[in-house]
Amino acid sequence: MQSVKLNASPGFGLGLRPEHYAEILAGPCQVDWFEILSENYMVPGGKPLAMLDRIRRDYPMVMHGVSMSIGSEQGPPDQYLRDLKALIRRVEPLWVSDHLCWTGVHGRNLHDLFPLPYTEETVKHVARNVRRVQDELERPILLENVSSYVAFKGDAMTEWEFITAIAEESDSLILLDVNNIYVSSVNHGFDARSYLHAIPVERVQQIHLAGHSDHGDHIIDTHDHPIADPVWDLYADAVRRFGAAAAMIERDDRIPPLAELVTELGVARELANKVAADLKREAA
Ligand SMILES: [Fe+2]
Repeated sequence: MQSVKLNASPGFGLGLRPEHYAEILAGPCQVDWFEILSENYMVPGGKPLAMLDRIRRDYPMVMHGVSMSIGSEQGPPDQYLRDLKALIRRVEPLWVSDHLCWTGVHGRNLHDLFPLPYTEETVKHVARNVRRVQDELERPILLENVSSYVAFKGDAMTEWEFITAIAEESDSLILLDVNNIYVSSVNHGFDARSYLHAIPVERVQQIHLAGHSDHGDHIIDTHDHPIADPVWDLYADAVRRFGAAAAMIERDDRIPPLAELVTELGVARELANKVAADLKREAA
């Protein structure tokens, strides 16, 4: 299993949403790649797969799952991995990701991304599940940091130590969600920049950007707003640290026309280019 990034950055992407199928098919858009929600296409046929095949002809894709439940006791069922592997063969994605969380027990999916206790025991358990998945899929996977609203009394390390330990113990990669770091930093009162600067550069393959709902004393990761200013600031820091990691915007609710998201993606491009130019100037 390789422990370095999978390939050069493919640039800037958007989540593929059914609301945008027609606009995407109507003409080229300024998007370098699309991220699909794997489970939406792990079906035997129908319109979603037909659309996926058509759009895949024109754009590279990455696959992002929400039901692997890598932190659960048993990890994903064999059938889930067989279905995921079949979709991988169909899509030939640049890479495959899911979340560092658990989503259910005893085969029941609760359709939410639940946090894990940050302990040595959990690191060993999750890393074992990750190695099984990577062996089955014959490729490294990326795991994403989730936003959280509660913490376990038994936590024995920070979230960033936990994520790093699992990536290193299982030789997997990281999908760093900058919005989730910000959301959790406010909810739990930690320093988002300390988090960012503790994550190993060579493990970060992709970055997520998204909007959230600010309720004053807590923030909820709703993906229904444009990206907030503090998250843009944190993204600029992320670009300084991780270089040209592939970045994309997730929007899952109150989905605007495609052109609006392409414009927001342009802001990410400009910001990344500006940071790269600043770094070059500082190095000269
Ligand atoms: Fe995300």
